[in-house]
Amino acid sequence: MNALPESVAAARRGLEARDLTKVYQSRHGDATKALDRITVTAGDGEFIAIVGPSGCGKSTLLHCIAGLIPHEGGALLLDGSAVTGPGPERAVVFQDPSLLPWRTVRDNISFGMEMQRRPARDEARARTESLIDLVGLRGFENYYPSELSGGMRQRVNLARALAMQPRILLMDEPFGALDAQTRELMQCELLTIWERDRKTVIFVTHDIEEAVYLADRVYVLSARPGRVQQVLEINLQRPRAPEIKRNPVFTAIELEIWRLLHGQRLQADQR
Ligand SMILES: Nc1ncnc2c1ncn2[C@@H]1O[C@H](COP(=O)(O)OP(=O)(O)OP(=O)(O)O)[C@@H](O)[C@H]1O
Ligand SMILES: [Mg+2]
Repeated sequence: MNALPESVAAARRGLEARDLTKVYQSRHGDATKALDRITVTAGDGEFIAIVGPSGCGKSTLLHCIAGLIPHEGGALLLDGSAVTGPGPERAVVFQDPSLLPWRTVRDNISFGMEMQRRPARDEARARTESLIDLVGLRGFENYYPSELSGGMRQRVNLARALAMQPRILLMDEPFGALDAQTRELMQCELLTIWERDRKTVIFVTHDIEEAVYLADRVYVLSARPGRVQQVLEINLQRPRAPEIKRNPVFTAIELEIWRLLHGQRLQADQR
């Protein structure tokens, strides 16, 4: 294996997707380049958002970072060391909560711990109970997924990912299917949880407001093949309350991102 460049080896603690390229090969022999030399860094405890037009490769990028699919070029680095494949330090929250319909809220949350046989049973039980409280599902712990609202299901999904105590949470449009009010509530809850234990979060969304509200840094991707078009540092105060969305600095950042994405749409229309 080639030695890593010094700058990479000396990277601070955290995750770095460096120059990732992904090409999908179809069975008919055509190739789709989904990602083109994308570099995204997330230091320990940072909240990163990724926005970009539909089909630009956001989910692909997240799946590469999770190690669920291979990438062609570049490297995925954790604390400066290359990682291949999935690992317990990275957990994914998908847009559609694929909960087990025959298990209750409590048993869905504890499922991963049962499968991995860690932690020990008493610790797993205690962790499950504290997660039920953390995501606001006390009183619903014996309900089945079909008896829950979309927002509640997504809370179970989040609790299930947190149960394994990952260092890095990879979230793919987790609130995309929720109505505006539930979405705002879930954003606030996610920020409260994040303020509490400061996990590293990489959050994919197509919602500009959501990205600016949640993140320390927003990566704006170009249309496919996804490239990093711009990186914006969001230096708004923390903790953030929803009112910050009306702040002129906030709306100016939103407008800047909107212009970047809108410019791409105009270019695509003119092609
Ligand atoms: N398994 C696959 N096989 C072949 N092509 C794929 C596969 N998954 C995604 N693609 C292609 O890669 C490109 C990027 O897809 P991806 O799902 O990553 O985009 P996205 O940015 O997440 O889109 P959206 O915002 O709609 O969720 C698309 O052109 C898509 O058709
Ligand atoms: Mg997607």
